[in-house]
Order: sequence, then structure tokens, then C-alpha cells
Amino acid sequence: GGFFITLAIESSCDETSAAVLKNGREVLSNIISSQIDVHKKFGGVVPEVASRKHVENIDMVIQEALDEAHVTLGDVDHIGVTYGPGLVGALLVGLSTAKAMAYATNTPLVGVNHIEGHICANYIEHRELKPPFLCLVVSGGHTHLVYVKDYGDYDILGRTRDDAVGEAFDKVARAMGLGYPGGPIIDDISKNGNEKAMTFPRIYLEKDQFDFSFSGLKSAVLNYLNSQKQKDIPIKVEDVAASFQAAVIEVLVNKTIKAAKLKAVDTIVVAGGVAANSQLREVLKEEGEKEGFCIKYPSTKLCTDNAAMIGCAAYYNYLNGLISDLYLNAIPNLKL
Ligand code: KG4
Ligand code: ZN
Repeated sequence: GGFFITLAIESSCDETSAAVLKNGREVLSNIISSQIDVHKKFGGVVPEVASRKHVENIDMVIQEALDEAHVTLGDVDHIGVTYGPGLVGALLVGLSTAKAMAYATNTPLVGVNHIEGHICANYIEHRELKPPFLCLVVSGGHTHLVYVKDYGDYDILGRTRDDAVGEAFDKVARAMGLGYPGGPIIDDISKNGNEKAMTFPRIYLEKDQFDFSFSGLKSAVLNYLNSQKQKDIPIKVEDVAASFQAAVIEVLVNKTIKAAKLKAVDTIVVAGGVAANSQLREVLKEEGEKEGFCIKYPSTKLCTDNAAMIGCAAYYNYLNGLISDLYLNAIPNLKL
């Protein structure tokens, strides 16, 4: 039989990305053009600037993805594209490009939910992975505990009621003047810090449910930083970072393992930008394996935003008959 070729496009935030996949799980190319350096000087993503940069880069990124995969547009069997959640202007650049290409080449268009893409990064990394399993999705915008029943079939067991985990990392980092994005920096400097130096709150909310809350922890860290500043006491950023990170990870790991037991799965996977966090990976693996679970996460490149994960999700949507029409619009607050 022939191959099934997916071309995928992702532009929901600050990475312009295009990828080509073979039979849904094999990545032939995954080009990521990051705008981090552009947004760094503003301390965060500036939506209008993001849209403009996507417009400047997208054609080149797509051409590079096709070239590296040694395919032409004529070989493409369907086009997958993120249509939400994300920044509306940024989403529209990828979506309009995908629609134009689908129309011009008479190729099926498949809209993809960005969060679903993050989960599917695990199918690319782990070729043997099959539902059912539990997935902890932790990114800059989302924190979800998801029971993946089947391809494209999800039960949300819990979600954050306020800040996403990545958002909390970025805000704490910014308060200490560490730069953007803060997650990787906190990860890095925590290695030289004492995670027991301060005891920040672990917020579990009501017993036996799986929602999260991180704004209280974030405020506790910001209050601590302010009080030290007022007293003119120098701050040991490594210790604050490590203590904050430990508080986040303890709650994430405990709730995830509890949910996995409830659903009686054997496998727990992690997805999203914060899945790149080295301490989260280590602690979840250790605690999860102690309880008999198999723990998996994508390589760092597939954790943060990329089009390959979108292509994999598009492939399963397509198999499930979920083909979009050319009226598909961007939905900034799209739910899983
Ligand atoms: O998934 P992603 O690339 O974009 C969204 O869909 O939000 O996630 C970006 C988030 C940022 O908040 C960033 O600080 C965080 O992931 N992040 C990390 C690490 N690498 C990226 N957080 C903690 N530790 C890391 N190593
Ligand atoms: Zn993302």
C-alpha cells in the first residue's frame, strides 16, 4: 500500500511551525521558527507582533518542511491545522494559509485542537502507545488531567481553576527578573537551589477531585519576594525557584497518580511545554513507577509547540471522519 502523507501547520502562539508526517506517526520533517527572541524584550508574547511574524515566516517554513521531507504539495493527502485555542490573530495566519492550500490543491482540510495536539506528541514519540491511558497536560495556557479513552475520545477529570502551570512558572520567573520564558530558566537554576529552603503552599482543593489552583502558590512566592525586598534581604533566586517548583510538582504528581489509580490505567503520559521540566519528569517517573505505572513523555522538542504533534492529531481526526470545510474559523478559547 501507499503512504498517507500529512502536512501540518501550527501558529497558535509564538512558534511558526510546519511538519510532514507519514502514516500519522512518522515525522519526515518538523520545522519550528521560534519568535522567542522577538518577544523576550517585552517580557512575554505580544499578540500583534506574533501575527506579523507568522505572516513573514509561514510560507518559508512550509516550503522548508516539504523540502526536508522530499515531498511536493501533490503528494500531500490532507492538511492539518490548529484552529484553537490560542491567539486569534496568530491562529488566523496558519488557518488561512492551510485553507488556501487545501482549496488550491483540492486536498482535505482537518482542523486540530492545539491541546489534543500536545497529547498526540506522545503517539509520535512512543510508536507502541495506544489508548486508554491518563495524560497530564501542562503548558503555558492549559493544565488538564485527561483520561484518553480512545483516539480522539477524552474525559477531562480536572483542570486549573486559575493560572496554568507554565503561566505560574513564567510569572514567578518574571518577578525575580529571570527573563522569558521563565519555565526553562527556573528548571535550570533550581538544580543549584534548595527546595526545602522555603515552604510554599501545596494547594489540593477539595478532597477526591482533580482540579488545580496555582494562583495562591504564585501569590505566596510574590509576597515572599516583596517582603524580603522591603526588609532589604537579598533573595537567593535558586532557592526560591527550587522551592516553588517543588510545590508545583508535588501537587501535579500526587493528583496524577491518584487519577491513574481511579481510572485503573497502566500508563501515564505527560504533554505540553512544562512536560519538558526535568524535575517533573524525574519525580513523576519515580513516584509513578513505585505505584506500578508506566510513565512516558515526549522528547523536549515535541513537548513545546510544534506542527508534528498537530499532524498526528489531524491523522486520527481524519480516520475518525472529522474533515473540516473551508468555513472553519479560529476559536481562541476552544475547549478539548
Ligand atoms: O506548550 P507550550 O510550548 O505553549 C503553550 O501551548 O502554552 O508551553 C509553553 C510553556 C511556557 O510557560 C514555558 O515557560 C513552559 O511551557 N516550559 C517549561 C519548561 N519548558 C517550557 N516550564 C517548566 N520547565 C521547563 N523546562
Ligand atoms: Zn502549546
